[in-house]
Amino acid sequence: MKRILSITFGLFLISSLAFCKNDSFREPDVVWVPTPQEVVNKMLEMAQVKKGDVLYDLGCGDGRIVVTAAKQYGVKAFGFDIDPERIRDSRENVRNNNVEELATITQADIFTLDLSKANVITLYLLPQLNVKLIPQLQKCRPGTRIVSHDFDMHGVRPKQIFEMGGHTIYLWETPLQMEK
Ligand SMILES: C[S@@+](CC[C@H](N)C(=O)[O-])C[C@H]1O[C@@H](n2cnc3c(N)ncnc32)[C@H](O)[C@@H]1O
Repeated sequence: MKRILSITFGLFLISSLAFCKNDSFREPDVVWVPTPQEVVNKMLEMAQVKKGDVLYDLGCGDGRIVVTAAKQYGVKAFGFDIDPERIRDSRENVRNNNVEELATITQADIFTLDLSKANVITLYLLPQLNVKLIPQLQKCRPGTRIVSHDFDMHGVRPKQIFEMGGHTIYLWETPLQMEK
């Protein structure tokens, strides 16, 4: 009887833990849509990525920006995504391209991150999410370049805007220039 009770309690504990884990999963703030490779290349060119830079892609999807930065520029690149499926895709992409020494993928909510170690930040989110990031971006080191695919950051004056084949790329540099 004692044995049956302890097995039942064990099963109850396991199912409760599984429920808590699912319950704490936060839905992504924006769905995954990949940036076309030619736009990725232009984003990194506009950010003037160079050896020694540290790139963060906030919401890294399948990891294509992180992989390109590591492979083409030889920089340390970190991708963050909240969705476990995207984390799996990104890690596979990193492995397939043999850039494990430079590229790191972490599951995290981007709004909880300290961005002060990055000096290049890439975004493909939504306008309101870019605005929500402003307090974190304002804490970045001076000279940090921020590039965003398609979406602006209301209230912050871009340094450059580039149009290519229906896509827009925005570039900002810290300290951010707030519009009056
Ligand atoms: C439009 S995709 C961009 C993917 C990649 N950066 C690119 O340009 O190809 C946005 C990504 O952000 C992720 N995402 C959404 N909300 C997030 C959050 N709060 N924290 C981390 N990642 C998030 C989604 O899971 C998705 O993979």
